[in-house]
Amino acid sequence: MKKIILILVIGVFHQYLFSQDTLKEKYNLMPWPQQISENNAPFKIDETVTISIAGEDFKKRVANASVQFLRRLANRTGVFIDAGFPIKQEKASIKISFDTVSNLTIESDETYSLEVKENSVLIKAKTDVGALRGLETLLQLVNFDQNGYYFEGVAIKDSPRFVWRGLMIDAARHFQPMSVLKRNLNAMASVKLNVFHWHLTDDQGFRVESKVYPKLQEKASDGLFYTQEQVKEIVKYASNLGIRVIPEFDVPGHSTAILTAYPELGSKEGANYAIERFSGIFDPTLNPSVEATYTFLENLFTEITPLFPDEYFHIGGDENEGKHWDENEKIQEFKKEHNLKSNHELQTYFNIKLEKILKKLGKKLMGWDEILTPSLPTSAVIHSWRGKREGLEQSTLIEAAKRGYQGVLSTGYYIDRMLSVTHHYSVDPIGDVVLTKEERKRILGAEATMWSELVTSKTIDSRIWPRTAAIAERFWLSLIHI
Ligand code: ACM
Repeated sequence: MKKIILILVIGVFHQYLFSQDTLKEKYNLMPWPQQISENNAPFKIDETVTISIAGEDFKKRVANASVQFLRRLANRTGVFIDAGFPIKQEKASIKISFDTVSNLTIESDETYSLEVKENSVLIKAKTDVGALRGLETLLQLVNFDQNGYYFEGVAIKDSPRFVWRGLMIDAARHFQPMSVLKRNLNAMASVKLNVFHWHLTDDQGFRVESKVYPKLQEKASDGLFYTQEQVKEIVKYASNLGIRVIPEFDVPGHSTAILTAYPELGSKEGANYAIERFSGIFDPTLNPSVEATYTFLENLFTEITPLFPDEYFHIGGDENEGKHWDENEKIQEFKKEHNLKSNHELQTYFNIKLEKILKKLGKKLMGWDEILTPSLPTSAVIHSWRGKREGLEQSTLIEAAKRGYQGVLSTGYYIDRMLSVTHHYSVDPIGDVVLTKEERKRILGAEATMWSELVTSKTIDSRIWPRTAAIAERFWLSLIHI
């Protein structure tokens, strides 16, 4: 009997997957939703399309998204939509409802359901951001035949596999203007990515205005930086799209720009620092053995962190080879005094100090996987980029999750490397690794990384898209559907 039931279950499941494959050929949805069924009752798009919103937050995210939706729909179809929005609930043809306004954290709900029928579209969500995700799906259901444009008649229930689905843009190597960031945020929202990781400082430039340390932008940006007002504008723009913004201030390595402005914080005495014009790994490194470094970082972070409402704050921490530390006798003495046996231990000392500073400012320290050392507190978040390290059986992401750290994966999603979409799509953050429920929860998700050594603002979009759409599906969709 058990065998018969098992065969039946496998049969039904097989049938289900087969029907999903057929649907995938028919509908151009990306990411593919968790559940979809068709009803053959398409909704005709004409000038009478109207939207109503029932929810707590009439004026903000969903209202903004509805206006954009109608504009995009008109652009796609050429249909001149008359009134559109806002309209009374009972009269509208597209009805959106949600219960609460999302506060954009890793706990935020993005679930939505979408039902398209002959004369009505219903989008229901727990949060306004869920409703936004539904609107994006609806736009992907636009199709046409000899009678005109329509939304495909389907019912969808959808929710993401990972809470952290990011794109990192490096605005330090080549500065990226506001318009580039905004159009990429729009594109991110269209494929349901929800984290914009903004790499703001590196050897080649410091890209944020500081009023406390103005030499940072005066001496280390070539005049190419974001004012604090522009930072706020991007954060607001992203929030309207349901996207969190995580800033990265890369320290103690990748800090030539900081040291160009404030050389007294460097590890090499008498060095003549100048911002880098080329790509590579460079030696200038903040001096972790002097209090002035921590005072500087505390003052800078105290000034900067209020611009970024998100709890997570990325401090980089990657690719510090410690050459200037090795060459500096005082730093060597400091290591001995504090019983720090290696440069890794010294960097951990530095990270722990930063972790405390950031904690006071209400922030959680996140860093590239070099920060994963034995004495790092588990409140830190590991951004895995080097994959499997020597001596580890699994990626640093899995290792971190097993050791109690939250983590995000970027190994395999380096879109600057111009690898095939098949390559990126075949990388899964978890794969077949068996995790406990708690370990699985600590794997927040993943990020595509767009390093900008070899792109300018004119070419960056062509490197990010369309491959990142496939990566976004990898982050959204359950393995079973892929
Ligand atoms: C990195 O690619 N250096 C994080």
